[in-house]
Amino acid sequence: MTVFDLSSTALAVARQRLGKHADIVHWIEGDITRAKFPMNRFDIWHDRAVFHFLTDPADRHAYVERVLSSVRPGGHVIVATFAEDGPEKCSGLPVMRYQPEALHAVFGDTFQLVEHEKEAHRTPFGTVQQFVYCYCRKR
Ligand SMILES: C[S@@+](CC[C@H](N)C(=O)[O-])C[C@H]1O[C@@H](n2cnc3c(N)ncnc32)[C@H](O)[C@@H]1O
Repeated sequence: MTVFDLSSTALAVARQRLGKHADIVHWIEGDITRAKFPMNRFDIWHDRAVFHFLTDPADRHAYVERVLSSVRPGGHVIVATFAEDGPEKCSGLPVMRYQPEALHAVFGDTFQLVEHEKEAHRTPFGTVQQFVYCYCRKR
């Protein structure tokens, strides 16, 4: 299992929460749009609330290229972003908001949209954020 994030603080918090189980995880700090993963490395790609920070089309393209090359054929891709009625910003940063079909379209026909679902996420601050989850299989 690999956990990837731009923030060393986020990684440290997640690592601490896992306690002794943290050792089974490969922790990587970096920018996902520049990450270098081996071909067909992953069975499952799971992203919650990272992809929607990519507001530049070139960054989204770079992200999708990495999913395409590092997820094995038949592998599973779960991406959760803010929904079309979700927040316009997060942590003061602009974000993208998606309908399921539009999120799937960014990834393209190599990925079959299997299922999608909305979630009303209650934050630790008591606010509610509308998310959309897309589950795709890589053909
Ligand atoms: C809202 S948090 C979500 C964290 C976690 N995935 C979750 O669901 O609780 C967004 C995370 O995206 C990370 N992030 C933003 N841009 C990134 C990038 N280009 N590459 C890797 N991580 C990024 C941030 O450091 C932050 O930890």
